[in-house]
Amino acid sequence: MDEPSAAGREAGDTGDAERCAPGQAETSVIVTRGLTKRYRGGQLAVDGLDLTVPAGSVFGFLGPNGSGKTTTIRMLMGLIEPTAGTAGVLGRPMPRAARAVLPQVGALIEGPALYGFLSGRDNLLRYDAADPTADPRTRRVRVAAALDRVGLTAAAGKKAKAYSLGMKQRLGLAAALLQPRRLLVLDEPTNGLDPQGMREIRTLIRELAADGTTVFLSSHLLDEIEQVCTHAAVMARGRLVTQGAVADLAAGARGRLVVTTPDPAEAARVLKEQGVGDVIADGDRISGEPPARDLAEVNAALVAAGVRVRGFTLVRASLEDAFVALTGEGFDVAG
Ligand SMILES: Nc1ncnc2c1ncn2[C@@H]1O[C@H](COP(=O)(O)OP(=O)(O)OP(=O)(O)O)[C@@H](O)[C@H]1O
Ligand SMILES: [Mg+2]
Repeated sequence: MDEPSAAGREAGDTGDAERCAPGQAETSVIVTRGLTKRYRGGQLAVDGLDLTVPAGSVFGFLGPNGSGKTTTIRMLMGLIEPTAGTAGVLGRPMPRAARAVLPQVGALIEGPALYGFLSGRDNLLRYDAADPTADPRTRRVRVAAALDRVGLTAAAGKKAKAYSLGMKQRLGLAAALLQPRRLLVLDEPTNGLDPQGMREIRTLIRELAADGTTVFLSSHLLDEIEQVCTHAAVMARGRLVTQGAVADLAAGARGRLVVTTPDPAEAARVLKEQGVGDVIADGDRISGEPPARDLAEVNAALVAAGVRVRGFTLVRASLEDAFVALTGEGFDVAG
């Protein structure tokens, strides 16, 4: 339900963001404070989430299965009530301002609802017809453009029940793209797509971002987030682990030192002596966390100890390294 206009809001203008988050408004399209969801069964799915999504960003919401991504998105879209905390989308409180906010947001949430007996095109026509702001005269053009954008033109006449998972996902995305939006919220948009399809969706997301749409997408695939996102937040077990610019997040992890040598045992000993942490030997490849000291000294120490060094490299940290560094655990499903 919308909030009353008596609250000092100008009728007809639903866009400006300064209303529920002064100071942050123009630059953030999603702001949550202490956002929490405990399901009826007692499961704490989202725990005190403070999320800030900058306008114009491609924001990756990253976390393993069960970490609370979909639950957060459902709260952002006003589909479920938070147990505690607040969620602001486009500067308005959710779920209270859902009626004003949702027309400006394209959303794809786990398993788009489709009529299996209708073709992909007819599903979109129906979807468009349900939007009271959509001009019926331009409906067919809009639907054709959306089908084209997601690469479904050739399959548009096929019944949706005969669609593959990836095709259904594309159709859900097409529905979110029927209207120009200020914000797109996509829950695992590449779920079920083959590598080629994933590439196409990534390109599409970049194009949308270039047009000025903020894109918020969830994923459990770290490299996908690295490839397409400017910013990211990392979730683990319902809690925010970190958020920020992707480049900064990866830079926060130091990368790993990798030494290749036919003398692995001796190399491991020397590296430990030199302050290299978490030394792991795998055949002739020894890796570890680089110490604070100059790596030239570490290399010299290896050589001085008679270790025959074939390779000595610092492997750039990925977002996955950052995740492991931050949580002390791998990117696995919470139990
Ligand atoms: N309707 C529900 N009732 C009770 N518990 C739920 C419900 N939906 C989700 N949960 C639980 O809340 C936690 C978070 O689930 P959620 O679906 O938000 O995770 P997710 O990050 O989207 O996972 P995935 O990557 O698998 O989609 C999980 O432990 C899940 O079992
Ligand atoms: Mg999910």
